[in-house]
Amino acid sequence: MTGEDLKELANRAVAEIGAAADEAALEAARVKYLGRKGALNEATKGIAKLPAAEKPGYGAALNEAKGRIEAALDERGAALRAKSLDRDLGAEREDMTLPPRRVRVGRLHPISQTVREVSRIFGSLGFETVEGPEIEWDYYAFEALNIPAGHPAREKWQTLWISNPLGDDPSRPLLGRPHTSPMQVRVMEKRKPPIRVVIPGRCYRYEATDAIRESIFFQYEGLAIDEKLTMADLKGTLYAFARQVFGSDRKIRFRIDYFPFTEPSAEIAFDCFACEGRDPECHVCGGDGWIEAAGCGMVHPDVLRRVGYDPSRYQGFAFGGGIERLAMLRTGAPDIRLFYQNDLRYLEQF
Ligand code: DAH
Repeated sequence: MTGEDLKELANRAVAEIGAAADEAALEAARVKYLGRKGALNEATKGIAKLPAAEKPGYGAALNEAKGRIEAALDERGAALRAKSLDRDLGAEREDMTLPPRRVRVGRLHPISQTVREVSRIFGSLGFETVEGPEIEWDYYAFEALNIPAGHPAREKWQTLWISNPLGDDPSRPLLGRPHTSPMQVRVMEKRKPPIRVVIPGRCYRYEATDAIRESIFFQYEGLAIDEKLTMADLKGTLYAFARQVFGSDRKIRFRIDYFPFTEPSAEIAFDCFACEGRDPECHVCGGDGWIEAAGCGMVHPDVLRRVGYDPSRYQGFAFGGGIERLAMLRTGAPDIRLFYQNDLRYLEQF
């Protein structure tokens, strides 16, 4: 074989490789020319019989032939792969019948919705929303509200006591607040009248859970302090609130009640928006015709005195009610526990 023959061999190989119709044909061409028993290896053996002067020229021709064949293999291989990819993609079909992947959009929990609704409504009546600590000193939760240690009214607000991380000081017990009323005292300590605030927030009680009670729940507290505030202002405020929550023809009932931190104290109920008192088996009011909603009253003079207000100059009213109770009425929830089981099938309805 001569260098010319090698050139010819490479020409044939390149042409054959360029014409390979698929990867199998290409592989066959590679074996035929570059394989262990391929044409190029055979040609290499011939080098031994050549005169010494021709060996370098022949070797160079061998290398060149090998390089051209390899380049042709690479090129054709890439072209064939691109072609088969095109074919695969072309054969694919979009399946328009597949349901789209669901996008889950979050929303406010019904309790958060109710908290905001309460803030919005009292805001429209001139009350500013304020928040306060859920972990509270015994002083604010009880003492400052006329409920000293040993007072029988403490029974009503049994709660969870907390060991103080700063070291237990028996004279300053800490607790999960059993109502939002301690914030009345905190706000009065910090501000001067006139005051109009509403305080929504989480509360804790030592309580067995049932359909209407949870040991963790939310309340809203209201406080107004000014000169010349009377029970009529209290009634008018809560009446306006009830009508905004439950409709413009709501009636409101005040009945005498007892709270140590208000005098006089009252309980407010709304007439039942579901049956208006006409259904003795109503699932909302239980046939009573009234829905108890909140406690309220005129702030006790001793509470005012304790924060340094002069009760002969300032009077005020306060009220406090349950957020879940309102949320249950707004949404028709039959059981308070539904709000806290985190079952999306329930919560997503609101
Ligand atoms: N804090 C009371 C409770 O948890 C409710 C209450 C009653 C709040 C009278 C008040 C009030 O502000 O004046 O049952």
